[in-house]
Amino acid sequence: MNYLFANWKMYLNLAASVELANKLAHVTVPDKVTVGIFPNTLAFSDVKAELKDTRFGLGAQNVSYTPLGAYTGATSALMFKEAGARYALVGHSERRYLFGETNEDVRKKLEACLDVGIIPILCIGETAADIADEKIEYRLKKQLMKALENLSLTPEQLIICYEPVWAISQAGVGTACEPSVAEERLVFIANEIKNYLAVAVPLIYGGSVGADNIAAYMAQPSIDGVLVGHASTRPEEWEHFITALTV
Ligand code: PGA
Repeated sequence: MNYLFANWKMYLNLAASVELANKLAHVTVPDKVTVGIFPNTLAFSDVKAELKDTRFGLGAQNVSYTPLGAYTGATSALMFKEAGARYALVGHSERRYLFGETNEDVRKKLEACLDVGIIPILCIGETAADIADEKIEYRLKKQLMKALENLSLTPEQLIICYEPVWAISQAGVGTACEPSVAEERLVFIANEIKNYLAVAVPLIYGGSVGADNIAAYMAQPSIDGVLVGHASTRPEEWEHFITALTV
């Protein structure tokens, strides 16, 4: 199975989200491709309605780990599950570095998703500072250990995304990670996971993926799919995405 996850971040308001979903509803998704859309929370249900007769799954960009209660501004994994979410991004670098989420928060969110039957897409990756400090492996090891230690799951319950923080675009402008480097890191991650999980889980790459480079990532043996941010908001790129995931 090949995975294509579209993280719309906060790029699109409700009307623009619905408009894009309406266009994507006409895109044919082959059986060997799993597609997930991560709209803004406010647009979640409307986007879901637009895509109801398609193979597009829906996901949460972020979840709160407390199910219900006095948590102003939060939306829980349980609520997303009830609204029809199949996936959730957990530990995205924008949540970690812009909103101060810790590895402990990431673990709690991961467990909250697993508890309600949402497939978490655990995002990990080094920053530019980690590279300067020669801490790439340290960062990946630590994020994996804190997230996965003493967790038991089946291969269908988790997806891991390597997203080097320095490669994530700002409104579509970014420095993509060389596909061969992404491959090297995913090999490292696949080995590291064996310390915690008895099963192999799908591994994907994210960071400045677009129509021009998606095929080069998918050609790497350890890459099962991609998490696409800004480029996934441009409907004209989708045909290339689907082709790259189908060949
Ligand atoms: P980008 O974002 O494709 O715009 O670099 C990827 C992500 O952060 O999910």
